[in-house]
Amino acid sequence: QPLEARQQILRPLRLSQQQLLEVKRRMQREMEGGLAQETHAKATVKMLPTYVCATPDGTEKGDFLALDLGGTNFRVLLVRIRNGMRRSVEMHNKIYTISEDIMQGTGEELFDHIVNCISDFLEYMGMKGASLPLGFTFSFPCQQNRLDEGILLQWTKGFSASGCEGENVVGLLKEAILRRKEFELDVVALVNDTVGTMMSCGYEDPLCEVGLIVGTGTNACYMEELRNVELVAGNQGRMCVNMEWGAFGDNGCLEDFWTEFDATVDENSLNPGKQRFEKMISGMYLGEIVRNILIDFTKQGLLFRGRISERLKTKGIFKTKFLSHIESDCLALLQVRHILQDLGLKSTCDDSIIVKEVCTVIARRAAQLCGAGVAAVVDKIRENRDLDFLKVTVGVDGTLYKLHPHFSKVMQETVKQLSPKCEVSFLQSEDGSGKGAALITAVACRLREAGQ
Ligand code: BG6
Ligand code: GLC
Repeated sequence: QPLEARQQILRPLRLSQQQLLEVKRRMQREMEGGLAQETHAKATVKMLPTYVCATPDGTEKGDFLALDLGGTNFRVLLVRIRNGMRRSVEMHNKIYTISEDIMQGTGEELFDHIVNCISDFLEYMGMKGASLPLGFTFSFPCQQNRLDEGILLQWTKGFSASGCEGENVVGLLKEAILRRKEFELDVVALVNDTVGTMMSCGYEDPLCEVGLIVGTGTNACYMEELRNVELVAGNQGRMCVNMEWGAFGDNGCLEDFWTEFDATVDENSLNPGKQRFEKMISGMYLGEIVRNILIDFTKQGLLFRGRISERLKTKGIFKTKFLSHIESDCLALLQVRHILQDLGLKSTCDDSIIVKEVCTVIARRAAQLCGAGVAAVVDKIRENRDLDFLKVTVGVDGTLYKLHPHFSKVMQETVKQLSPKCEVSFLQSEDGSGKGAALITAVACRLREAGQ
């Protein structure tokens, strides 16, 4: 029975509530491991201190430059923040491409390119020679000992530029600026995209204490009690922690959820064995999981009349956009067939139904796993504060979350089921994390001027 055969292959990819609760529990255990001094070094969920200790309060002001590196687009921004009665943020930005050659070339080339783009942007804005404070959104795991410095622990997603891991990326940026000898910049803050997103949404909603990205990669940050952040001295107040939850499972703790398809995608990635949770959730990998399942179906004669085309063997043909498109409710099956045809895959009507089902199963699993992660975070915040009930907002960004027709709904339902003692709202970030980086830079400049 082909139908039964297909369902059997898909079964391990459908998760029960019990299993999701287990994921939540394991995430909470890993979070504790990353926070504690004793276990931090070998922890996979790193729980990195960010030196961001408060969400915005509306008093931030000034003109700032921001860089946003690590998502789909690299952007340079000018952010003007006005406070007082006419609180407003004005932003100008320009998108630059970073070719795969640069992402995977040398660190020097990468940072020279970044500085080139800054130079172009200043000229474009008619601001050549200006020296503004800069917030650097850098969406990779960095060990920070202060706000304006961070050691890149490892590249993730599509980057692998040499000579950067283990180095202070703010230093690498400054060296590239010196090499160019054209302008000076005061790099005030290094910010993860989750943190930038939380801050940007926090400017609109003071209950926003969690930042979430579901895009090329996935990750979250939240406001943790400083007493629990054992890597940092002090017991009073809170600090935002960049969880780097993409690495959840790298110690094998998700083995029972890891399928042969996940393993294949992992083996063929730039960073085998790393970022396992991320590889089950984010846009860079979901299409590859789908493609591998389709290959398996075809090999077993359950799809495409048993013929594997060269196209289907091509890595990366299913982009995030495809997953979102194929699952749109209004799409007739004929259109699904057209999409497949555009990709060079000849399908029958039955084939298109099967492809769509595979996409649904994979996106659903991703959204549920992500929801289990969020549930772990919000319950941790609630328990930290000894509350029976917590109302909290999660600021979210990322193309998968924004474009996929069902991801957010499934994720939100999961959070509701797994964390019944929390009322969680999700606020979509409209202006990316550059604004958040500028807000953090503004606070740091104010504190610096006040001599604190
Ligand atoms: C953007 C943020 O809007 O979303 C980036 O400004 C972030 O900082 C990105 O990295 C994540 O989404 P994606 O899909 O571009 O990886
Ligand atoms: C990867 C990065 C992380 C980032 C996330 C989303 O997981 O390691 O720092 O926040 O992608 O862009």
